[in-house]
Amino acid sequence: RLREFLNELIPSEDQFQRLYQNFCAQIRKGLGAKTNKDADTKCYLTYVQDFPHGNETGKYLALDLGGSRFRVLLVTLKGDRDAELVAKIYDLTEKELLGTGTQLFDYIAKCLHEFVCEQKVEGEHMALGFTFSFPCVQTGLSRATLVRWTKGFNCSDTVGEDVGVMLKSAITRRTGLKIDMVAILNDTTGTQMSCAHRNPACNIGLIVGTGCNACYTEKVENCERLDTKYKDRPKIIINVEWGAFGEKGGLDHLLTDYDKIVDKNSLNAGTQIYEKMVAGMYMGELVRLITLRAVNENLIFAQCKLRKQITDILTKKPNCIETKVLSDIANDKGDDWPMVKDVFKDIFHLHDADPDDCMKFKYICDVVAKRAGNMLGVTLGALVNKVGESFSIIGVDGTVYRCHPNFDGYMRETLDRFVEKDRKYDIMLSEDGSGRGAALVAAVVHREYIERK
Ligand code: BG6
Ligand code: GLC
Repeated sequence: RLREFLNELIPSEDQFQRLYQNFCAQIRKGLGAKTNKDADTKCYLTYVQDFPHGNETGKYLALDLGGSRFRVLLVTLKGDRDAELVAKIYDLTEKELLGTGTQLFDYIAKCLHEFVCEQKVEGEHMALGFTFSFPCVQTGLSRATLVRWTKGFNCSDTVGEDVGVMLKSAITRRTGLKIDMVAILNDTTGTQMSCAHRNPACNIGLIVGTGCNACYTEKVENCERLDTKYKDRPKIIINVEWGAFGEKGGLDHLLTDYDKIVDKNSLNAGTQIYEKMVAGMYMGELVRLITLRAVNENLIFAQCKLRKQITDILTKKPNCIETKVLSDIANDKGDDWPMVKDVFKDIFHLHDADPDDCMKFKYICDVVAKRAGNMLGVTLGALVNKVGESFSIIGVDGTVYRCHPNFDGYMRETLDRFVEKDRKYDIMLSEDGSGRGAALVAAVVHREYIERK
């Protein structure tokens, strides 16, 4: 009965086909000059057109904002496709996530100042690459106007502003340091560049973390919105911003009541529909809503003496199930269910869980993760075909992909079905996040700047 109840979360082949078609249609619209306004996947131009040669050298600073951890990095590019990174994580509180833009950027500048002092490079004139993982309209590598906040961020006085300008003035205001912010890039782009540094065949970047998004290498002749002066180079990275897919109805055939509730309760209702089905910020919440309804329908915890308490917790505590739970219990097997039992103890204070309930809860978690991985495989397949190379490497990062033991397999299941027969692909984990990529982009800009001078 539980299986039947969860059926709507297990897409059919026909539903995957429609997902593929709808997604491709949105990408076509996103790339077109006249149709871009009607697309949900805006296909932002990143102005990243130079790909790593592998011989880049020098010391660069990088900021990585927008994932689960805010980091400041010192990256030493060593030539030979090699790099050394020193990184420090700084906490972000509600004050930064939901305060004013000035508060956020002042805090970033403060962390940067502390970091360069600790690293004893405060006297050096350095270039900085800024990974800023939110949708931005760029008019060049270092100019990026914020379109909207996503995930858990919502700072006032920032949408419509140039985040590069905000960062630069905060750095000057707070520190007086000699730091040149030379490039702003999305985390997908940073990830693609990081992986391309190690293997030039990487032409797609993917994040499955707090949020979810992808970018890919496109031929300039397919980018109607790109000014001709940028068309002397053959390619450019496009930031798809596919988290927003579904805002124009392209996912309606897959949306369940649970997805609609997650959207309604979010900071940004009505937007980022695809992201809310597949990303770390939301999958735990989907599991909570599904489990709650399953309890009410007597499909799980039916005989449990704490049934009322469990229902209360599930009803009154949004986000009580973190997405990490899906990864933690994915390996639990057999009659013992140690991980599931730990989760039940932590969340529901239930100490003598019934193995049948453990199995059912694990099944709910698996269904949610598998739907996400399978859907991502379909849209990744579309990008592999769009890139059009005989071999594509997908560079990937993010806690969901890193921590969930079956996620890679779920993506490959549908990738294998949707990638055209004459193409091959592989998936490569970005070893040191997007920081290496940010430094590489900074290195290219810096080189050009020095050459011009
Ligand atoms: C990190 C990258 O490793 O992964 C970030 O360096 C990225 O740029 C992040 O935003 C995404 O994953 P998560 O799970 O931290 O949101
Ligand atoms: C959100 C952001 C996007 C980012 C992704 C992964 O979807 O809008 O820019 O790449 O999260 O962090």
